[in-house]
Amino acid sequence: MIHRCGIVVAGFGNVGRSLVRLLLEKTSYLAERYRVDFSVLAVGDSSGFVYKREGFSREELEKLLQVPRGKVCESGLGSCTRCIDEVFDETLPDFLVELTPANYDTGEPGLTYMLRALKRGINIVTANKAPLVLKFRELMELASRRRVRIGFRATVFGGVPIIDVVRHLAAHKIRRITGILNATTNYILSRVFYDGLSLEQAVDEARKIGVMEANAALDLEGIDAAAKAVILANVAGLNVTLSDVSRKGITLVTMDDVKRCISENKVIKLVAEIDLENKCIVVEPRELPSSHDLAQVKYLLNAVLIETDLNTIFVKGIGGGPAETAINVLSELVELATSLPR
Ligand SMILES: NC(=O)c1ccc[n+]([C@@H]2O[C@H](COP(=O)([O-])OP(=O)(O)OC[C@H]3O[C@@H](n4cnc5c(N)ncnc54)[C@H](OP(=O)(O)O)[C@@H]3O)[C@@H](O)[C@H]2O)c1
Repeated sequence: MIHRCGIVVAGFGNVGRSLVRLLLEKTSYLAERYRVDFSVLAVGDSSGFVYKREGFSREELEKLLQVPRGKVCESGLGSCTRCIDEVFDETLPDFLVELTPANYDTGEPGLTYMLRALKRGINIVTANKAPLVLKFRELMELASRRRVRIGFRATVFGGVPIIDVVRHLAAHKIRRITGILNATTNYILSRVFYDGLSLEQAVDEARKIGVMEANAALDLEGIDAAAKAVILANVAGLNVTLSDVSRKGITLVTMDDVKRCISENKVIKLVAEIDLENKCIVVEPRELPSSHDLAQVKYLLNAVLIETDLNTIFVKGIGGGPAETAINVLSELVELATSLPR
């Protein structure tokens, strides 16, 4: 028997649209392989949500994908509302897929959407780091009380399920996690160190090719890396929020630093370090000898060194990107959906 699983997609931007495209592409595979059929009951953007109790048809989803950004409520497809409670009450979804922009000051709108979903016993899969880095424990405890799950694999390290790696090291005592967690700054520093661009040129290029966040400070000031470090730290057992991170961005790096490092056979990387023994997290530009494992991590790659009492694990892979993030979201949806009681 096919398990029909209703989802509400909050946030219909790069990742939200990639996810819906992927769902359309994978419908028969998921039904055949996992006996699950995801039905999109609602999608929402900054104009509000459109919803249909019985779920949107394939044709309607294809039409929604053609709707310009910020205009789902003008699509004429389904009922329209700005109220998430109305969406949940009318569609009774199994999952909220939370893909709204990350607001590190308030966590909104994602935080409210997640809290409302949890209070109704709706499972969540999210790629939005902000609610988690502000309220990780509260959200997890509420989920546990309501006996629902929050999947957040897509929040860190697009191409590699690093959260699962950290979660599954039960026999290890993790001492330290050190990593390059922000692909944009790694790209900028790689272009400077390996290709001879100035910092200014590399930042401009990152902006032009679309790898920079709309709010550049999230990348350049280390906020995105700090957010990922907070999520990894919580998974590894610390109870921390974004304000616990000691953070410096690559805006502190000068071309004089770059020239000196090159002459000393070093590179500068934006490094996030989670010290589990001293319970502290630091994000800062660090000078590393060229032979260091993290110094070999170039351009849009991310990497993490996990030091435990038993051994050291090195994981390297492509950072974020809407397609990779949507793949992670869908994989986690399938895993959670197939483990739900039927
Ligand atoms: N892009 C990546 O590679 C990547 C990787 C990992 C994690 N993430 C995270 O995933 C999330 C989505 O990223 P994205 O690249 O898809 O961002 P995006 O393109 O900016 O899309 C965000 C979507 O949220 C919508 N939105 C804004 N306010 C809303 C509200 N109050 N209610 C409902 N929807 C609202 C936006 O509406 P409009 O369309 O009207 O603007 C847009 O559709 C973010 O939290 C991001 O940090 C992204």
